[in-house]
Amino acid sequence: MDLERLKARAAEIAEKETKDLLSRTSGSEQLYQRAIKTLPSGVVSNFQAGDPYPIYLERGKGSSVWDVDGTEYKDFHGGFGVNVVGHAHPKIVEALEKAAKNAIHFAVTTPDTIALAEAICERFQLEQMRFVNSGTEATMDAIRVARAATGRDKIIKMEGSYHGHHDSVLFSVVPEADVLDMRFNTGGEGDRAWYTTQPTSKGIPHALWDTVIVVPFNDAAAVDQALADNAGEVAAVILEPVMMNIGIVEPKPGYLQALRDTCEKHGAVLIYDEVKCGGTIAYGGTTERYGVKPHLAAYAKAIGGGSTIGAFGGEARFMEWVGKGAAQQGTFNGNPLSSAAGLAALTQVLTKDAYDHLAKLGTQLSEGCDRAIAENGIPAHTVDLGAKGCVSYRSEPLTNYRDFLETTPDLYWASYPWMVNRGIFMTPGDEEQWTLSVQHTDEDIQRYVNAFGEFCQELSS
Ligand SMILES: Cc1ncc(COP(=O)(O)O)c(C=O)c1O
Repeated sequence: MDLERLKARAAEIAEKETKDLLSRTSGSEQLYQRAIKTLPSGVVSNFQAGDPYPIYLERGKGSSVWDVDGTEYKDFHGGFGVNVVGHAHPKIVEALEKAAKNAIHFAVTTPDTIALAEAICERFQLEQMRFVNSGTEATMDAIRVARAATGRDKIIKMEGSYHGHHDSVLFSVVPEADVLDMRFNTGGEGDRAWYTTQPTSKGIPHALWDTVIVVPFNDAAAVDQALADNAGEVAAVILEPVMMNIGIVEPKPGYLQALRDTCEKHGAVLIYDEVKCGGTIAYGGTTERYGVKPHLAAYAKAIGGGSTIGAFGGEARFMEWVGKGAAQQGTFNGNPLSSAAGLAALTQVLTKDAYDHLAKLGTQLSEGCDRAIAENGIPAHTVDLGAKGCVSYRSEPLTNYRDFLETTPDLYWASYPWMVNRGIFMTPGDEEQWTLSVQHTDEDIQRYVNAFGEFCQELSS
């Protein structure tokens, strides 16, 4: 079926399914009316906002969540990549109960905090690490340490990537197509000069624009060139080794090693942002899956077993700067509750065997979706990476942000209410992915595959 007909069909499906969704979520609508009085947009993070209102959840158990209207869904949203342990996992609940009775907060390092640091260093092959409370703080502190160690200000980041909401990195995060010079998106050498740094938020100081250099993902030569053009000025190259905010984009073979080599050559620090990849794509994150170590890496989300956490670490020659003048502190860093939940998650739940289970489920899910895509001629593909995966509405895999601009979001926006109406709780946005948990079962996966298969049939009918 041609794309224009598919888009028209998608618009019909989206209209009908959205109407159904709104008609059975009156509890969410009422809560939204209450929430907007105290919370801008009725939510606690801009990423949670919904149109016309978000679905508010009340409870989770195993692989299910319940909204405030009492409807049960299978959870494939996974708290934006956090809930790899699933909901109310007995080991996590036990650890939290015990910790709450012992110590909710000291602002003093505890034995559990040290044990968790050891578990993180072992699993991700870090020499040293420090705790923070979010992914934002993790990338912020890793960049500070890189700047302290090198005595340089500039950083290089990939076009389209998100690294949290601190000022240094809020540039060219999914920039609108009309600010990019698309004439030069041909993959040739001459293109690189046209990657410009665009602020993503109001309120970012102008002084910072000149400290961020934007290059395309999966182009090590562009990084090498930027480092040469800014010789002696670049502190760090920061990237999500697998881009996970435009669907999923894998690094090409050799790309990560080439980045490491060029950073070594130019005296810059290679920082992986593993906030999403770390606890999801393999037991040992990117270093295990793709075999290339960064100098520093940032973690958060899944490593806390659902609790508030962040961490960064890597080579001791860089980490030692936190003891030599690079500010790294925080009242709640490594607090007893997060440490207990994280320790239970990493040592008792997210074991090596757990990643085999997640990989098996992920492959079942992506293969099931691939079959439906092929049988119905939908311009889409799937990506399958352990607990993470997605359907991306473009036939060919993406290599960088500009490929994402060639996807067809209309198809996603028809699939979203369709899936939610069939009991599959999804992230609201085509830039996101599914997150599987150790508590998901074959039946949960089949339910997703069935709902998606029916969607593809409906779309192509
Ligand atoms: C790759 C990446 N880095 C950093 C962050 C920021 O993490 P947090 O929301 O915990 O501050 C996110 C959040 O989604 C992320 O996906």
